[in-house]
Amino acid sequence: MSVIPLKNKEGVARMREACAIAATVLEQLKPLVRAGVTTQDLEEAGRDWIARLGARSACYGYQHGSRRYPAHTCISVNEEVVHGIPSFKRVLREGDIVSLDIVVWKDGYVGDNAFTVPVGPVSSALGKLLRISREALDLGIKQAQVGNRVGDISHAIQQFCEANGFSVVRDMVGHGVGVSMHEPPEIPNFGRKGTGDKIKSGMTLAIEPMVNMGAYKTKTLSDGWTVVAADGSPSAHFEHTVLTTDKGPEILTLPRPIV
Ligand code: MF3
Ligand code: CO
Repeated sequence: MSVIPLKNKEGVARMREACAIAATVLEQLKPLVRAGVTTQDLEEAGRDWIARLGARSACYGYQHGSRRYPAHTCISVNEEVVHGIPSFKRVLREGDIVSLDIVVWKDGYVGDNAFTVPVGPVSSALGKLLRISREALDLGIKQAQVGNRVGDISHAIQQFCEANGFSVVRDMVGHGVGVSMHEPPEIPNFGRKGTGDKIKSGMTLAIEPMVNMGAYKTKTLSDGWTVVAADGSPSAHFEHTVLTTDKGPEILTLPRPIV
């Protein structure tokens, strides 16, 4: 456990801005997700919206080991869990599910959010995966109360997903977010109530259940980035950046109307 940064008034104001931009970009991409579109098309639209809103992608050039992430967005289809690299070869088809993850820098602060959307009508099993994963995020956020512990968030997400027959990914976790994309604490999507760091007012937390229809194990493809469900089963991902306050959690990644 290391020290969890608390944001002061100015930090919160900047987080609000970065998060509103990240959410607005995500919202703008949603209607573009259609059969026949490539993930590179979504990347280009995402890249352009980030620029138009005066921000920078926190993914582009993001370093992990000796590799740098080559795109402005992460787009993960079906069994891809996260960090899918957009490609002009990947054409979306009806019945797919697509996870879009947008992380932006604005004035030194980072906003991080993601969701998974269906391409046209999808099977009822996939529909349930999306619904449960989205609801798991809400239940996790509800636990982000001052005085609770991080494990309360983790437990709520795990309990709900598993009770509905799905599994939660363990190889990747939610995280604090602020002056960098990943700050303490780690926020696993599995764990025990009453364990982990205590939640205080002024934390900004990226809560992000990654939920598999099959087993929780993942592997990384040879591109060095794309994380897939090891058994090839579909996976969903929903993420919000949340501010903890004495009045309860506040979701910062809500889109702004575009005029
Ligand atoms: N939301 C992802 C995360 O928190 C974004 C990763 S950006 C990438 O890990 F560069 F790693 F793709
Ligand atoms: Co994140």
